[in-house]
Parts: sequence; C-alpha cells; structure tokens
Amino acid sequence: MDESKKMTSLIMIFGATGDLAKRKLFPSLYRLFDKGRLSDQFAVVGVARRPLSNEEFQNSVKDSVVSSLGKDEKIDEFASHFYYHSHDVTNSSSYQTLKSLANDLDEHYGLQGNRMFYLAMAPEFFGTIALHLKSDGLTEVKGYKRLVIEKPFGHDLPSAKKLNEQIRTAFSEEEIYRIDHYLGKEMVRNIEVIRFANAIFEPLWNNRYIANIQITSSETLGVEERGRYYENSGALRDMVQNHMLQMVALLAMEPPISLKTEDVRSEKVRVFRSIRNIQGEEVNNYFVRGQYGEGVVENEKLPAYRDEPMVDKESNTETFVAAKIMIDNFRWAGVPFYIRTGKRMATKTTKIVVQFKDIPMNLYYQRELNPNLLVVHIQPEEGITLHLNAKKAGVHLDAYEEKLSFANTGVNAMNTPEGYEKLLYDCMRGDATNFTHWDEVAYSWNFVDKISAAWTQSKADYPNYESGSMGPKAADELLKKDGFSWWHVDELDVIDLCK
Ligand code: BG6
Repeated sequence: MDESKKMTSLIMIFGATGDLAKRKLFPSLYRLFDKGRLSDQFAVVGVARRPLSNEEFQNSVKDSVVSSLGKDEKIDEFASHFYYHSHDVTNSSSYQTLKSLANDLDEHYGLQGNRMFYLAMAPEFFGTIALHLKSDGLTEVKGYKRLVIEKPFGHDLPSAKKLNEQIRTAFSEEEIYRIDHYLGKEMVRNIEVIRFANAIFEPLWNNRYIANIQITSSETLGVEERGRYYENSGALRDMVQNHMLQMVALLAMEPPISLKTEDVRSEKVRVFRSIRNIQGEEVNNYFVRGQYGEGVVENEKLPAYRDEPMVDKESNTETFVAAKIMIDNFRWAGVPFYIRTGKRMATKTTKIVVQFKDIPMNLYYQRELNPNLLVVHIQPEEGITLHLNAKKAGVHLDAYEEKLSFANTGVNAMNTPEGYEKLLYDCMRGDATNFTHWDEVAYSWNFVDKISAAWTQSKADYPNYESGSMGPKAADELLKKDGFSWWHVDELDVIDLCK
C-alpha cells in the first residue's frame, strides 16, 4: 500500500471498556491494521474508570476482535499497540498521568504528535473531558489533535449549544468529528454517487418527476438494556434528529461544487435550512408517534415497552416516529419526504424508495401501471433496484413490472468495510465530510425541538402498535391522505444476482 495512505496516530478511547469500543471500535481498528491502513506507528490508549492491567486490556481487545470477526492473524502484534489507563474524568492528576503515557508512546512509536481523542461514553462527561484535555496539556501537540464524539450531541438545542461551547474551548470546529454512524454506511455514502455520477437520475431528481421519497429504518429489537437512556430520548431524538435527517439531506441536497468537505456540508446545511418548520397543533398533520405494546414474534411473547427494564409503567416515550418532511425550495416544493423509524417492528431494514410520478397516460390499459421506483437498500442487504415496466415475452403488449438490480454481495460484501472503520480512517486522514458539522446539528435540533415541545403537551394513547408490526395505523393514514402508501419494504428485496 502507498505509504501516504498508512496512518500514524495515537488514539485515545475514553470508554474503552464499554460496548461500543468492544463491538465496533476494536474490530474496526483491527481491520484497518489488517489492510495495512495503519502504519506500525500507531498506539491506542484505552481509558476507563475500572482498574485493568495492559495485559488484561489487550486480552479484551483480542477477544472482541476474534468474536466479532472470527480472525486472529497477527492479533498479538495488533494488540501489542494497546495500553490501558484507569481514569477519573474529573481529576487533573489522572489527566497528567495520561499525558505522560501519551508522550512516552508518542516517542516510542514515532507518532509525530498526532492525537485522536475518541469519546465513546456517557455524554454528560464530554464537556468536562474536553476542558481537562486542554487545561492539563494533552492537546499541546505538534501534530494534529482531533476530537471524535459520539451521539447524543445534546438533548435539545440549548444543551447542544452548551456542549458545543465547552468542547470549542479546547478544539476548533475543524478538529471536531461528530459521529453519525449512518454516514459510515456503504450505501448511505453511495447516495451521492448514484445521484451525481449518473446522467439518468439527476435531471429527474426534482418535483417535476418525483412523487415522494420514503425512508424506512425499522428495527426488530426493543429497547433492551437501554431503558434509562431511551426514556429521555425516544425515537425522535435517538434516530430522527440525526440518522434520518442526514439521509434526507443527502437525498435532497443540490450538487456541490466539489466533493470537498465544506462544499458538501454547505449544500447539506441549505437543505436543513429549507426544511419546513412544524409546530404546535400542526405537528399532528405531519408527525405520528408510536410506542410498542406486547406482541408475539416467532412464537415468542415480547413485552410491551412499558414493561421493559428501567422504563416508566406510564411512559409517554415514543419508540416509533413517522413524519412527512417538506423541503420548501424550488427543487422540492410539493414533494413529501416520508420517514419512519421504530423499535420492535416486523423487520430490521433500512431502505430508501424514490417513487417517480406516473406517466401522463397509460396505453397499456389492461393493467394498472406500477410507478417507477428507485430503491436504495442500505441494510441488511446493500444495493440498488430500479423498478421499470416492460413487456413479458409473448404476443400481448401488456406492461409488467421488471427490476434491474445491483447487489453489493460476493466479493464486494466481504470487502465492505464496517461503518466505523471508514469513519475512523476518515478522521485520521482529516476528512470530515461524513461527520456532522455544528450547523447541521443546530438546525436539526431546532426542527426536532418543536416536535418534542408539541408532544410533551399531551399524553399519547400508548401503546398503539403491536410488537412485530410495522407501526401504528396512523402512520399509514399520514400517507393515505396524500394519496400514497408505504411501499412494503419486505417485498422490495434486492435481487441478488450472485446467489
Ligand atoms: C443508534 C441508536 O444510533 O442507532 C439505536 O441509538 C439504534 O437505538 C441504532 O438501534 C440503529 O443503528 P443500525 O446501524 O443498527 O441501523
């Protein structure tokens, strides 16, 4: 591999004994190492409260890599780059010890003073840590210093602003990498390429030819052990404010003048600025909230949300959101972007369906024509399907639906990097395009806060959808009143030509 593509850095992971580090970060770093994207000049310091020796930490790193990837080539060599620091986030002397470890590693591995601080822990400590990193001198480096920060970025606009002010005292906006892991997904990144590298789509990508766009991100799992967090978050803050609105922005933005970070971001920000703000009673016309009740899935009885651990028996928290988002600009005026996301739904999938307008007249009157659809399969399968109408072999001239499909399977799928792998690599390269800029965060909170304000005014009639269903009936009504309906995501599977 070209030496310039090999990264040299000290990566400090705060929250190194947590779930995210084990499930995503260690395996992703291993994959970068395995592919030669990390030079020999890298070191990782795991930072967390509990005491652990370096050896114990290295063993937990090895375990998480082997259990998630099933690979152990060069695993000892990989793990030897990992060190552990037992830390108290509010104590200066703890940061001093961390600093001297960092300086030693810098010298030992020749890390050129490059530092990435990855905060994979409870957000209430983000501000404190950032302030200490600066006041205790960990950010005084001759290389780069970058702060990677996990969601949630605040709870609403005021708390996000406060958090931003705290971290900005230690890091400039260019040094802050706010993770939205959807922006690491292969097919989310592909939206831009599909749109801007194909002459056949961009001319049609507007209100003259598109009837509506639907984005579904459904999960089968319930809230699991995260009741405490989720009770204060709900699906609106957990999924809509970030992942869902980011996908809307990528679908709706104007072609940027270049693929440089600032050019892409400014187009995305323009979308956020054009989203119609909804508030007060109007919210009911645009948003539907839901909470799962009991249900039986594959003969297993599943509990209602209110019976999950650490959830209030009277909880008014939504586990499902459907919305109609309008983008009031020339390109999109009148085209609804419907989004829906929820827990304990019938299927785990993320799909985008672009529904084109009907042709002006149907010559094949024996049959009702299906509209043309462009389906982007984000997960679990990855690919694109274009739904066309064509004649079946034979004498009749009837039009039938045919699908053109491209699936990221076979060779491609094996090499498909995990989202976090791409995001970590981007951060080390200094490419912030697929991270959220503060302006995007601020506009999306501003939009979402008005919805939560309206919802807190009244108690919803929960539970209103069964576990294992596709959400409340009202989500269907939302589209029905516009003359549309949700495409059945299960029936839109990508045709896998490799199978
Ligand atoms: C996270 C949410 O950001 O995204 C979770 O906090 C949710 O509640 C998850 O389950 C979904 O991510 P994915 O990649 O499985 O679609």
